[in-house]
Amino acid sequence: MCGIVGYVGAASDETALGVVMEGLARLEYRGYDSAGVAVLDGDHVEVRKRSGKLANLRADIDARPLPPTATAIGHTRWATHGGPTDTNAHPHRGGADGRLAVIHNGIIENFHALKTELLAQGAVFSSETDTEVAAHVLAAEYDRTGDLTAAMLAAVARLQGAFTLLAVHVDQPGVVVGARRNSPLVVGLGEGANYLGSDVAAFIGHTREALELGQDQVVTITPTSVSVVGFDGRPVEGRRYHVDWDAAAATKGGYPSFMAKEIDEQPHAVADTLLGRTKEDGELVLDELRVSEDALRAVTKVVIVACGTASYAGMVAKYAIEHWTRIPCEVELAHEFRYRDPVVDRHTLVVSVSQSGETMDTLMAVKHAHELGALTISICNTHGSTIPRESDAVLYTHAGPEVAVASTKAFLAQITACYLLGLYLAQLRGGTQADTAAAVMRELREMPEKIQTVLDRMERVREIARFMADTRSVLFLGRHVGFPVALEGALKLKEIAYIHAEGFAAGELKHGPIALIEPGQPVFIVVPGPATPHELHAKVVSNIQEIRARGARTLVIAEDGDEAVVPFADEVIRVPATSPLLAPLLTVVPLQVFALELATAKGLDVDQPRNLAKSVTVE
Ligand code: F6R
Repeated sequence: MCGIVGYVGAASDETALGVVMEGLARLEYRGYDSAGVAVLDGDHVEVRKRSGKLANLRADIDARPLPPTATAIGHTRWATHGGPTDTNAHPHRGGADGRLAVIHNGIIENFHALKTELLAQGAVFSSETDTEVAAHVLAAEYDRTGDLTAAMLAAVARLQGAFTLLAVHVDQPGVVVGARRNSPLVVGLGEGANYLGSDVAAFIGHTREALELGQDQVVTITPTSVSVVGFDGRPVEGRRYHVDWDAAAATKGGYPSFMAKEIDEQPHAVADTLLGRTKEDGELVLDELRVSEDALRAVTKVVIVACGTASYAGMVAKYAIEHWTRIPCEVELAHEFRYRDPVVDRHTLVVSVSQSGETMDTLMAVKHAHELGALTISICNTHGSTIPRESDAVLYTHAGPEVAVASTKAFLAQITACYLLGLYLAQLRGGTQADTAAAVMRELREMPEKIQTVLDRMERVREIARFMADTRSVLFLGRHVGFPVALEGALKLKEIAYIHAEGFAAGELKHGPIALIEPGQPVFIVVPGPATPHELHAKVVSNIQEIRARGARTLVIAEDGDEAVVPFADEVIRVPATSPLLAPLLTVVPLQVFALELATAKGLDVDQPRNLAKSVTVE
């Protein structure tokens, strides 16, 4: 939530504004309630900010150009304290002379107490934000210390909550100082210039060399230096790494939206997540986990924590992990796990699933699991992010950058990584479980091609979606691993098409929700393959008949060759046959395409749906 960019070039370098605006464009998915920049210009700091999307700020700057500069910071906002107005937009100035400007991501929990104190001292506030409080605290510390880094260290000692702060001061023209606590910040290492960003997308157009910062650290960048200290003032070494994707990966590449591109990239996301994780004989090697095999063999319970779409990947994993390993597996929304009293001990494996690696709810759950002594593994798509750092081990998904707010390719990559983890646990347990793991791995390798087959067949789904552009409500039913797929189909439609949608376990319908069925009500049904155990296929076919008898319009997702559904389906959407536990990688694709096409037909911005942000860094 909120995107932050900072840049310092050599004194003669006048590109800072352009670099920061480009970074903001790449970070806009993190929040788009307002955007703003601060540039250092001689003896004053010029701040320009506008509510609404970045385009509003750009138009303003085009109309009234800012001075060329070598030092700038920029912000794109997802509003927390104070509405999305021009005055609440960042940057905020601090101090009576306004010679310092600050941008912020996160929430300063003690802002009210600090504001009361500052007001009593005569500070004047122009916004309702907690950020302006931080700006005044920082300005007061600057007046006392005369140095921006020292001021930042003193200021963070007074702030509570989660925050990333960047600051510039007119007295220190070639310097940007940043601080992070439970909120993301990475450093981009350039030649004669350095960068700060909420994630590497902020500077990927200029450098792929990055420095990972830890929690509770302050970083000072100049054109030629990067120095990092802990909140205690002691110097620390950041971890340098090379970003394995480039600026082209973060562009639309000819697609009308990032979401359309990312849906199409799904075969690659799954293939890349599988890549290099098996030996030639098919044995899984997850050395990167760096957790001893004995520790994994000692696991007696798995708990998966995640939010939103990632939690649905976790739900799929529960079915698979329990089936393959016979280890009990629970899935819990991260924000619920943290604030109850979960039964977790050192033999519990807590697996967090997160695309961004920054979701605050998930991060807090991981920290809590640590405190309780659990072994923690993170499944994550973003190198250098916080959740992997706070976990004992990480299994990266290789979906590439996901820019659209609605998650698609990351979801498939998360499911794939969950399968890998489950199969690895099964392999470690040996015997028939290891044989099962080897057989499933063979099938998993065929999935990218099958996903491509589904994508190649989407024309009819697009037609159905366009035809349904005025629909007010859609229901989604599934059973077994089709249940989380139904939940995901409903979530996609809600978040990008703003249509009321509900996902249900098909068996639950008769316990209440069937009352929603009236003539013409569209219902998607994710049908398990005929090979699914316990005659689930027949049971879902009965469910289809029950709702059709009450007038529902049935949109059935079924395997090739499954003729039993035909008499009760208004539409049949076919996916290739696969073993039951792997089916979500196929059955969710038509639901993603449906939501995308319907939202597009309604003329909505599918990449930046209202009220949302890609990376949810507040609790
Ligand atoms: C929905 C969506 C969200 C995220 C959730 C967790 O399309 O993207 O529900 O899945 O906010 O985000 P990560 O995976 O970054 O932890």
